[in-house]
Parts: sequence; C-alpha cells; structure tokens
Amino acid sequence: MSGLATNYQVCIAGTGSYLPDTVLTNEDLAKRVETSDEWIFSRTGIRERRIAAEGEFTSHMASKAARRALEQAGLAADDVQLIIVATITPDTLTPATACYVQQQLGASRAVAFDISAACSGFLYAMKISKRLIAAGAYENALIIGAEKLSAFVNWEDRTTCVLFGDGAGAAVLRRAEPDEGEILATEMGTDGNLTHLLNIPGGGSACPITSTNVGNHLATLAMQGKEVFKHAVNRMKEAAEMVIERAGLQPEDIACVIPHQANLRIIDAIADRLAVPNERVFVNLDKYGNTSAAAVAIALDEASRSGAFVRGDKIVLVVFGAGLTWAAAAVRW
Ligand code: COA
Repeated sequence: MSGLATNYQVCIAGTGSYLPDTVLTNEDLAKRVETSDEWIFSRTGIRERRIAAEGEFTSHMASKAARRALEQAGLAADDVQLIIVATITPDTLTPATACYVQQQLGASRAVAFDISAACSGFLYAMKISKRLIAAGAYENALIIGAEKLSAFVNWEDRTTCVLFGDGAGAAVLRRAEPDEGEILATEMGTDGNLTHLLNIPGGGSACPITSTNVGNHLATLAMQGKEVFKHAVNRMKEAAEMVIERAGLQPEDIACVIPHQANLRIIDAIADRLAVPNERVFVNLDKYGNTSAAAVAIALDEASRSGAFVRGDKIVLVVFGAGLTWAAAAVRW
C-alpha cells in the first residue's frame, strides 16, 4: 500500500436542461391573485415561469435534461455509474426520484439516490460526486436538479406563487485528463436553526397528509421572504468568496458567475459584494422564476451553450436555499 490518498482531477463533461412548454406569465398570475407584472418584476426580476404538464413528473423532466447532458458528454446511459437527483419535489416520498430516472434512462448499472437540500441541492450533489470520483469510487456521475414546484405551491398565496417554476438541469462529471477542465473547489453549509424561514410543513412524518391540513395549505411552500433575502445575500457571498480563495482566483479572473436564480436583487447584491461586473453574472430567472435545485443547473447549461464562457475559463457557481443551506463551486471549464 502506498498510503497516498487517490485524488483524481474531476471535470464537467456535459450539461443539459429541460423546461416544460407551458409558459405562465406575470399577467396570467394577475388574473388569479391580486398582483401585477410591475410588482413581480420590480421586486424579483421574474417575467414568466414554466409549468409542467399534468402527467409530467419531476423524473420525466430530470431524464430529459439528463439525456442532453449525456449526449454532450458522449456517455452512454449504460456506462453511467452514479446518479444523484437533487429535488424537494420528488415523484414520490419513496422510492427516490433517481430510481425512476435510472429506469427511464436505461442506466441500469448506476447507483441512484436523491438528496434534499432545496435550492442548494445541485451543488451539494456536485461536491459529493466530485469527492467520490476524486477518491476513485466511481469514474463518472450524472447529477441532476429537477423540480415540479407547481405541485407544491399555494396558488392562492401571492407572496409565494409568483416566485416559483418547474424545470430540470443536469451535468455529467467524470475523471479528467490533466489538460481538461477541473472542479477546483467546492463548499457547502447548513444552518438548521432557520428551518422555519422556508419550508413545506405538511406531508412528512411531523404533519402527515390529512384532509384538514391539505385544506389549510400545509402541504405547500411557506416562506418569510424578507428574512430569507437577508441570509441569502450573506451566505452566498461567504460561500463564493471561500471557493474563489481556495481556487486561487481574483475577481478579474472570473469569466462568469452563475448564481441561484431566485431574485434579481439578491443576484445584484452578490455581484456587487464579489466585485464582479453585472455583465459577467448569468441571469435567466426572468424566463423561469425560481426552479429551486434545477435553477443553477439550468443556468449552467444555458450559459455554457450560449458562449458566456469557453474552455479554460474560470467560473463560479453559488446557491442558497431552505434549510437553510448554501453552496458554491469554482470550476475551470
Ligand atoms: N403582488 C403584490 N403585492 C404583494 C405580492 C404580490 N405578489 N406579494 C406580497 N405583496 C405585498 C405584501 O402583502 C406587502 O404588502 P403590505 O405592505 O400592505 O403588507 C408588500 O407587498 C411588501 O411585501 P414584502 O414581503 O415586504 O415584499 P419584499 O420587498 O420583501 O419582497 C419577496 C417580497 C418575496 C419578493 C422578497 O422578500 C424576496 O425575494 N425574498 C427572498 C425570497 C427568495 O428568494 N426565496 C427563495 C430562496 S431559495
């Protein structure tokens, strides 16, 4: 035994995303609850969001995004070794949505499980799978953020229903050659003292589904928006700074920051605090709203395919969500 720990370089070999066809605009919402395009856009930056079809589940969207990522990575489903789905809107409480995805893709040799870290889930999955690949446990992993939040939103509550949307994003991670890209640094954190700020109180063992609590909207998202806002800015800044420092980067080295897509004011505050100009910060929440675990994954796919950065560029991803949870990654593309 050499005693030396294995530490393979890990790269992102492909990305993919999927958004359902149905568009729900701010004007559409103003017909359902007392709100306006002006209020929603000025407070959040959101213009419209996508809504999954009735028979379209989180796993279906996840599999569509995954196929695109596999195609770009040139990896056959049969060769996938690990599938992690990050979601708070699973098809079923058990089995994991990743098991449905494994079946839909025909990735029969992959180990598959879900993680629940809300909007931070995709970067939690990135850190976990990066470490497993770096240690030699697997050669590749398919990580997916997928959500059907429309099934868990109280459509009568204007303070939350205007914020969220459905979709999925995926990435293939694999062991890399020295001249390929590399996930340089990853960070994740949690503060369980703040679980009450953003949650779905019902539907779990603490508050099983009954006709009464469904009627009281306990199985839908509840949020203290102002408090969440404050913590989001601070935690995302800290997490991003940590990976930037560990990767040995300066603000001017960063070609693109890809933040969680929840609120344009949060994104602007992060860009400002990181001293990265707004034109190097990727934003697509105007089209999709907050798609939780899917948001940063969809943004990564759209940013890379649109040429927002190219091979060799350094990028930073940073997210924040219920838990509270947060995470960041610095990547050489
Ligand atoms: N349309 C019109 N008015 C609305 C509204 C809507 N959709 N939602 C809330 N309002 C009203 C409120 O009732 C309140 O009215 P009042 O002053 O008469 O009581 C007023 O607008 C201000 O509400 P407030 O909650 O203070 O607004 P805000 O400036 O904090 O913006 C959020 C609300 C949700 C947009 C903002 O707090 C936010 O984005 N927070 C972060 C949420 C987030 O990103 N969560 C996900 C993290 S992963």
